[in-house]
Amino acid sequence: MSSPAARMLDIRRAPWEGDLRAEIVEGLQAEPARLPPLLLWDDEGLRLFGALAQSTPYYPGRKEREILKHQSASIVSQIPSGTVLIEFGCGDLDKTRMLLHAMNQQHRAVSYYALDVSAEELSGSLDALEQEFAGAASIEIRGLHGTYEDCVHWIAQGVSLGKLVTFLWMGNSMTNGGPVGAQAVLQQAAAACQRNGLGFQFLVSCDACQDPERLMAAYDPAQPPLRDFILHGLDHANRALQRPVFQPADWTVHVQYDARHAMVDVSYVPVRELVFHVEDKRPPVSLQAGTKIRAITSGKWSPEQMAAVAHGAQLQVERTWMDDDGIYAFYLLCPHAPAQSTDPFRKDESRTSMPRGSVTRSPNPVVIETADAC
Ligand SMILES: C[S@@+](CC[C@H](N)C(=O)[O-])C[C@H]1O[C@@H](n2cnc3c(N)ncnc32)[C@H](O)[C@@H]1O
Repeated sequence: MSSPAARMLDIRRAPWEGDLRAEIVEGLQAEPARLPPLLLWDDEGLRLFGALAQSTPYYPGRKEREILKHQSASIVSQIPSGTVLIEFGCGDLDKTRMLLHAMNQQHRAVSYYALDVSAEELSGSLDALEQEFAGAASIEIRGLHGTYEDCVHWIAQGVSLGKLVTFLWMGNSMTNGGPVGAQAVLQQAAAACQRNGLGFQFLVSCDACQDPERLMAAYDPAQPPLRDFILHGLDHANRALQRPVFQPADWTVHVQYDARHAMVDVSYVPVRELVFHVEDKRPPVSLQAGTKIRAITSGKWSPEQMAAVAHGAQLQVERTWMDDDGIYAFYLLCPHAPAQSTDPFRKDESRTSMPRGSVTRSPNPVVIETADAC
């Protein structure tokens, strides 16, 4: 086993706290006002998110595990042996281990890189994963400390990653930046691979539930799991600003389902009128009670909406694995097929011969032909 220093690479281009400060100042002046989603993701934020993910009404994690439990063999059959698997925003690696076990069972060699912004949490989770796979000679495990953008920059620099990269993006995280944000990350990652002569594909998971009742139960702002996770972002903001601007007692959390944009919109809301200084040289910020300041959005994209997002990033949905209720799915996104493919993924004989655009549901896989997504 390699030493912790060797297996965890710090790929940050610069410390983020300066960027976060600037984004907080800019976001509070924006219309509508917002705070950076990155405020939610530090070690404590990840712990609080874990508690939310375990709460009964919060179905997404359960649905993902259900799909992986029944379909991980089919999913990893699409990840060729010898691939470099880079996981964006890996979190606690709980679901990753299910995929790695399935790869190990199929004797697929993989170099796995876990990317996250939260170094301490990442290091702890990697230790446990390394121990679990200590006997699996064909599975290499490493950590990357940085953002998606840091990772893309790291790849584009020409780092040696073999021939094929599969990007894994679970937890519905690709929807947090909206369709435009998701497409930007997908396109930047694709461009970095192309520049480095690498083949690539994306394995992403996405929440397709558009039932307001179910969504509001899962994202209940009155319940501690969601409220504590979101309000912790204000504590992180105080640390980034190096002053106690946001007092927890002054704030509550608001959630609404925006059906038009297929997303749950989560905001910080002051319970009374507030006036505060974020920086000495700037005029004070004044907020009316009830003003919504966006904390994060969580997209709820149907398979058709996912296909449209992929299409906008010059990708197509090659495979879909859905849960039994049809509210959560894993998707394999590949570059648009050229007339004569030079994509190394397509030449791999270990791929199954499932038709493009097919959908598999768990727990008893039924193959449903759909129109080609692109
Ligand atoms: C919703 S959680 C999902 C965690 C895990 N993938 C899962 O499925 O349970 C989002 C994860 O992405 C990480 N994250 C958020 N924004 C990020 C960014 N810009 N770059 C890298 N990681 C990020 C967070 O730290 C967190 O671990």
